[in-house]
Amino acid sequence: MPYVSATEMIQAAKKGRYAIGHFNLNNMESIRAYLLAAEEMKSPVILGVSGGTAKYMGGYKTITATVTSFIDYLKISVPVALHVDHGTYAEVLDAIESGFSSVMFDGSALPIEENLEKSRYILGLCREKGISLECEVGAIGGEEDGVASMGECADPADCAKMAELGIDMLAAGIGNIHGKYPKDWPGLRFDVLEEICNVTNGLPLVLHGGSQIPEDQVKRAISMGVCKVNVNTECQLAFTEGVRKYIEEGKDLTSKGFTPRALLAPGLEASKEVAIKKMQLFGSVNKA
Ligand code: 13P
Repeated sequence: MPYVSATEMIQAAKKGRYAIGHFNLNNMESIRAYLLAAEEMKSPVILGVSGGTAKYMGGYKTITATVTSFIDYLKISVPVALHVDHGTYAEVLDAIESGFSSVMFDGSALPIEENLEKSRYILGLCREKGISLECEVGAIGGEEDGVASMGECADPADCAKMAELGIDMLAAGIGNIHGKYPKDWPGLRFDVLEEICNVTNGLPLVLHGGSQIPEDQVKRAISMGVCKVNVNTECQLAFTEGVRKYIEEGKDLTSKGFTPRALLAPGLEASKEVAIKKMQLFGSVNKA
């Protein structure tokens, strides 16, 4: 079964100068959508699980069992990592116990020394179990109550300290933002990315907020050392748009023969298409 940690796929991406797509799960349809997209593209894939998704989908154990069963049932042959996205300390420990193959510990809101100490402890657990670890320093901007904040930049000195721990990958803010980018967004800070690359000794970097960054900027970031790009918003929007169109077409949702599966199928197809386009952009096609 191709259920693996993200370590090897990320190292191969680093060598080959491409990036692995991380797609956030939201429901059962999204599991199927991203597994099928990866299989069709012969691309490795990382399935991300936020704390909110973990609660919605019945906890980390349920998700591990569901994803591994789907891999088996759909006869998926490409490498798949199941990854915690922005995990708190408690969430990461829970996911490690529950069979996840990869975790992100987000200690970016903590003082750097505490972030390093907790990351070091989690790294020990991950190494015992063969699980890959992503950590974060600095803060990635985002939308709160409809107001988008600008992406902040990580301090390269903090990035260097995190790299010294020997983690597998590092999320460091370079002006990127989760969700919608404000109209006056000045773009990714390639000067900061370069500084970070210079002090992190080849550590694979992760670009969050990968939905609406212009393609040329994504490609440039990958060429400089980004090996994993996180995508959620664009897939979610495509999913809901697919369902909205289905309803607008005037289908009778009340008839006896109607099934909710038919309502969600266009959403699944639409988010799968987005994932395929992103895999093509990131260069991970035929890399499985
Ligand atoms: P977007 O929702 O902006 O694509 O970001 C996803 C992400 O970075 C998840 O960690």
